Amino acid sequence: MKIFLDTADIEEIRTVARWGVLDGVTTNPSLYAKIGGSYDEILKEVCTITSGPVSAEVVADDVEGMLKEGRRFATLAPNIVVKVAMSENGLEAISRFADEGIKTNCTLIFTANQGLLAAKAGASLISPFVGRLDDINQDGMIVIRDLVEILAIHGIESEVIAASIRNPLHMTQAALAGSHIATLPFKILQQMVHHPLTDKGIVQFKADWAAAQSELAAKG
Ligand code: E4P
Repeated sequence: MKIFLDTADIEEIRTVARWGVLDGVTTNPSLYAKIGGSYDEILKEVCTITSGPVSAEVVADDVEGMLKEGRRFATLAPNIVVKVAMSENGLEAISRFADEGIKTNCTLIFTANQGLLAAKAGASLISPFVGRLDDINQDGMIVIRDLVEILAIHGIESEVIAASIRNPLHMTQAALAGSHIATLPFKILQQMVHHPLTDKGIVQFKADWAAAQSELAAKG
C-alpha cells in the first residue's frame, strides 16, 4: 500500500520523505488554510520533494471553473493531480480532464457507488473518507473494501485512496482491505512508528551498552 501524507506543511513532507516512506501528498483547501501563503508556491515546493502524485484541489462549482483551475494546477509540475469533489459537475470535469490527459483525484467519496462513477468518468485516484463516515456511526472501511473489490472485478485501473484516516488502526485495516493508497496526517504516521515496548527497549539497550563499556573501562 502506498503512503501519501495528507498535509500542506512542507516541513512534515520533508521529514517523511527523509524516512523513505513517502509515495505522494494530498492537500485540500482546509489543510492549505492552516498554512496560508500562496497555494501555487506550496504545491511547486511539494513537487520538488516528491515525484509521486501531489493532489491540488479545485474549489469552483461549475465545470468551466473547475477546468480553468485544474488546467493551471497541471502546469505547475508534471506530478500534479487535480482533486475534484464528487458532484454532477465534478464528474463532467473529471471526464474532460481525462480527455486532456490530466490526472484527477475524486474526493469526498462516501459510497462505493460514488467511487464507481468517479472511476467510470476517468478519475485516476478515488478518495473515500473513512474517518468522516466513522464519525457518523457508519463503518467507513466497508467503502474501501467494497470499492477495491468492485474495481478488481471489473478490471478498472483507478486506485483507491483511504482518506480521512484518524488512527493507526485505520492504516492496518486499509492495508488489509487492499486499498492501493492511504493518505494520513503526519501525527498518525508518527504514531505508527512508535510502540511503548520499542521505545523502552531502545532505552534499555543503551543503558546496558553503557554499563558494559564502563565495566570494560574499569577493568583496564
Ligand atoms: C483527503 O484527501 C482529505 O484531504 C482528507 O483525508 C480529509 O480528512 P479529514 O476528514 O480528517 O479532514
